[in-house]
Amino acid sequence: MSIDAIGVFDSGVGGISIWKEIVTLLPNENTIYLADSKNAPYGQKSKQEIIDLCIKNTEYLLNKGCKIIVVACNTATTNAINYLRDNYDVPFIGIEPAIKPAALQTRTKYIGILATKGTLNSALFATTTSKISDKVKIIEQIGEGLVPLIELGKIDTKEMDVLLNKYIQNLLNKNIDYLVLGCSHYPFLIPKIKKIVGDKVKIIDSGEAVAKQTKSVLLKNELLKLSNKIGNHQLFSNLNQKIMTQFVTIKHTTINFLDF
Ligand code: DGL
Repeated sequence: MSIDAIGVFDSGVGGISIWKEIVTLLPNENTIYLADSKNAPYGQKSKQEIIDLCIKNTEYLLNKGCKIIVVACNTATTNAINYLRDNYDVPFIGIEPAIKPAALQTRTKYIGILATKGTLNSALFATTTSKISDKVKIIEQIGEGLVPLIELGKIDTKEMDVLLNKYIQNLLNKNIDYLVLGCSHYPFLIPKIKKIVGDKVKIIDSGEAVAKQTKSVLLKNELLKLSNKIGNHQLFSNLNQKIMTQFVTIKHTTINFLDF
């Protein structure tokens, strides 16, 4: 069992999009990933419910000896990261919608954000958007129903196409030229979204930035693994570990069921 791993959690399989970036950037690190699919989606829950689930996930990862925790979920970050940072000693890395780079680059002055209700209604998201110039309009779209379909592995389905077309069309109607993906589940939909938006709209997600931030915090805290040995990766789901396998292509990875 690893005692120096990077712990990563999400409400389900979405954070695997972030985990992949971390493993690619830091191939020698061991990782432990928790998919709390049993409790997905977090996006419809109250702030207190989200904090309680984040405490449970954090304690599980700390008991496994994790040295840093990546909250690979926008909904959990925007609702619970301040609580986690105030109550535990390890460093926490969060993920927030990448509004700022989109706002700096937009030409039409309209940027779209697709995220959960929990993220869009959070105080942290309100603080982030309040720092954006008044000249840029942020068009919010809740991606209701997308996470449950991804959790069931139903990406290439009619149901998914119908929902996604409706949400993206709402944003295109507002003349957006940047689309920020504000949920770690959504990068799995990028090929589909690209087909809808063509090359008119640039899609931004935060996975690579989170991996870079993880590296820099590990370095700063002298926690970066120095060995050249390739890391091993343990992924746990408390619902359906079989579905996880379709999202994971990295070697040295074990996927198991665990009732956390
Ligand atoms: N992957 C999540 C996020 O980034 C959570 C989605 C959900 O559970 O509603 O927001």
